[in-house]
Amino acid sequence: MSEGLAKKIARRIRAEGPLTVAAYMAMALHDREAGYYARRELIGAFGDFTTAPEISQIFGELIGLWCAELWDRIGRPDPLILTELGPGRGMLMSDLLRVTDALPGLRRTLRVFLVEASPALRAEQQQRLCQAHPEWLTRVEEIPEGPMLLVANEFLDALPIRQFVRGPDGWSERMVGVDPENRLIFMDGPANPGASLLVPEELRCQGLGAIAEICPAALALASTLGARFARQPGAALFIDYGYFPTIPGPTLRAVQRHRPVSVLAAPGTADLSAHVDFAGFAEAARAAGADVRGPVSQGRFLTALGARLRLAALSAQAAPAQRQELESGLRRLLDPDEMGHVFKAMALISPGLPSPAGFDRNVDKSEPAGNDHP
Ligand SMILES: C[S@@+](CC[C@H](N)C(=O)[O-])C[C@H]1O[C@@H](n2cnc3c(N)ncnc32)[C@H](O)[C@@H]1O
Repeated sequence: MSEGLAKKIARRIRAEGPLTVAAYMAMALHDREAGYYARRELIGAFGDFTTAPEISQIFGELIGLWCAELWDRIGRPDPLILTELGPGRGMLMSDLLRVTDALPGLRRTLRVFLVEASPALRAEQQQRLCQAHPEWLTRVEEIPEGPMLLVANEFLDALPIRQFVRGPDGWSERMVGVDPENRLIFMDGPANPGASLLVPEELRCQGLGAIAEICPAALALASTLGARFARQPGAALFIDYGYFPTIPGPTLRAVQRHRPVSVLAAPGTADLSAHVDFAGFAEAARAAGADVRGPVSQGRFLTALGARLRLAALSAQAAPAQRQELESGLRRLLDPDEMGHVFKAMALISPGLPSPAGFDRNVDKSEPAGNDHP
């Protein structure tokens, strides 16, 4: 399968010329027959990578509480649109909805939308979430108008990025080409002023060899949601690994069976992702009219939402082995040396809304800069 996709990409490059890194990522991840997201068993211990909702039910439950509190703050609208972007195996939404079951007033108002590109994952979501009667969409722009809460965990990191390299004559775009043996290789395009305009302003003065990354799809999403929250009430919670403020890359990486592999060697067989530039994302949302809170580290965010209290409540009813699993799962999410620091939470909210739970201060300056790579 992978050889087929590598050949297909090489054929396209020979016909059209080198591809941007974003065009390469889009094919490697989303090619209908052989793209990574056409595969099964991507997520979890037996897949290629694992995520917070797969590690602990507490993650989705706390996000359920976060939503319940916001629903109350925005005046208990009925109906309330609840959207998840990139729901994976549906674990987060399933844990979130279990919490809302305890609040019938909220539960019956929910209209659930799932924005998901992968047919295989849609099938899994259907099985896990059928009782909520979700509706599937391919784009955020398709979500109907109305008050909305949106959640997304590890969605932004899966969106295609472009890379720019600082050469002796200025910035040029990094491209994917083919070598004489038809292998996919990275190559630098010609230096041009257009490229340097796309490089985030904070990085333009970087020295020779520096790499800057931008994620046009994330910026467009921030803009769409920013404009939406400016015209109607709502909030979006993004949790992802990334940096704040903007720093040079490269952060693009490929993961297969929980191990790093080559980005270009076997497209379609490995997950590709890049760190989220939370500063750029926030700026785009603000420019479109939303207020932004965070980022705060995942550890701090989940702790503020009551992670330890929830652990204590679950542990009190658990058998010893289960208790240990609950404790080690939560430790993994909170520990700054594991997922607690590099993963961050950011909220986009309608202007004038008070800060949602977990975001008590606007930008938390007491936290160390989040620029380490996992
Ligand atoms: C890294 S997984 C995270 C899954 C889940 N949120 C979790 O935490 O387990 C990325 C998710 O985003 C979906 N996805 C990636 N790119 C997408 C796109 N352009 N449009 C819609 N869904 C996308 C993937 O199929 C997958 O469900």
